[in-house]
Amino acid sequence: MHRFSVELKKDAVVLAMTCTTYTKRGETGMAYTAKDYSHILGMEGISDETLKNHFTLYQGYVSNTNTLLEETARLVEAQQHKSPEFAEMRRRFGFEFDGMRLHEYYFDNLKGNGQLDPQSDLYKKIVEDFGSYDHWKNDFLGTLAMRGIGWAVLLYDHKWDRLLNAWIELHQTNVLAGLPPLLVVDAWEHAYYLDYQTGRPGYIEAIFANLDWDEVIRRFENNPEIRDRRKAA
Ligand SMILES: [Fe+2]
Repeated sequence: MHRFSVELKKDAVVLAMTCTTYTKRGETGMAYTAKDYSHILGMEGISDETLKNHFTLYQGYVSNTNTLLEETARLVEAQQHKSPEFAEMRRRFGFEFDGMRLHEYYFDNLKGNGQLDPQSDLYKKIVEDFGSYDHWKNDFLGTLAMRGIGWAVLLYDHKWDRLLNAWIELHQTNVLAGLPPLLVVDAWEHAYYLDYQTGRPGYIEAIFANLDWDEVIRRFENNPEIRDRRKAA
């Protein structure tokens, strides 16, 4: 008899934080491993305690992503791929995978000086698409301030060569298909509650002061698909 649901434990941290490579795991392919983000500790306005708790949550998403891959593979092997267990785990997969990946984008675009170079192509594209940097920022701030839990993201639509701000509900709802994220900011309460309680505006201000825009520029300039589309524009 199969379990109906996989035990998805927040504390199931079985993966080495320092390992950034993939490891072979049976017949389910390469297992994901959590990245070490200890280098972003020491930010002004976002406490180390908040960040360390956040790393632990992130590691749980990595672990659960692997668990779901393993368990669905096991059900396929057992000819149970049309079972309710399989369907429920497949449905859950987007939540765990996007929870893992969005946290990686988020941690990677932190611990900068909060300044976007006005001479950068990204800055110029923001002005082109939103009218001004301030207009874009207010649009993004409004997205971040929405009630509910999710993510504010700046995306690039290579079909139309334009930037878009969007709100991802939870981790996986309202994801705009095929649009690579450039800037990703966590708006779940665990990202700020210890430091600001329910005061999300204080968190938003601290995040903007710590954004690593150089990383965001790298995502914009180094993605071959974006680069090719920008050249053709
Ligand atoms: Fe988070």
